Amino acid sequence: MSNKAPIILAVDTPDIELAQKWIETTSDFIAGYKLGLEFFLAFGSEGVRKLQRSSDAFLFLDLKLHDIPNTVSHAISQVKSLTPRFLTVHASGGRAMIAAAVEQAPDIEITAVTVLTSLTPEALSEVGFKKDPLESAVTLALLAQHAGARAIVCSPLETHAIRAAVGPEISIITPGIRRAHQAGADDQNRTMGPKQAVQAGATYLVIGRPITGAWSQGAKAMRDAADEIAQEVS
Ligand code: C5P
Repeated sequence: MSNKAPIILAVDTPDIELAQKWIETTSDFIAGYKLGLEFFLAFGSEGVRKLQRSSDAFLFLDLKLHDIPNTVSHAISQVKSLTPRFLTVHASGGRAMIAAAVEQAPDIEITAVTVLTSLTPEALSEVGFKKDPLESAVTLALLAQHAGARAIVCSPLETHAIRAAVGPEISIITPGIRRAHQAGADDQNRTMGPKQAVQAGATYLVIGRPITGAWSQGAKAMRDAADEIAQEVS
């Protein structure tokens, strides 16, 4: 039975055939799939098109662009024909850079990454941020919204505060999702369960290993993993 949920599958593999199988196997349950820099640098636009032919799920192109406005604008002009639903830029690239991205691709939901969850308060202070990670993330989310971004990426633990600041319209997309029995699994430390993340205000959840990790036990196990999480958030 089909049970599509607000899940974006993190397709983190350098194997294009495997990526295709993962997307096909979970397509009844996922709304979209995320391809990042590793995939894009390995296979380019042609690789993305190949995957698009195997699924009706939307594409989240996670390139995390961060450069001067003119360069970001030209970079986006090279990928906009892929028609991703979401395309990421770093909010810390500033208002003009985000606005240039939006202007270049008005039909794509330009998505601003706030503060990387890998940055500790000390690491953030080292690069010159005066506020703590939560305050910095809220500030960047508001800046991005004012510059025209239509989605925000943040930690699930920041979702509640960011949702309160940006209001109901903008999409909030959050990684770092683990089910209760998987808390602290893999390299994710500050995690939240799928249901709690949606209750905190997330629009979409980026989920990788809690689903893709089941592939080693076969396609059915992976389908079941996606189905279980989809049921939890639907
Ligand atoms: O396997 P897992 O569910 O941890 O995958 C999460 C995905 O979200 C990965 O593609 C990871 O790179 C990405 N991500 C993250 N934390 C961030 C930003 C992106 O885990 N702050």
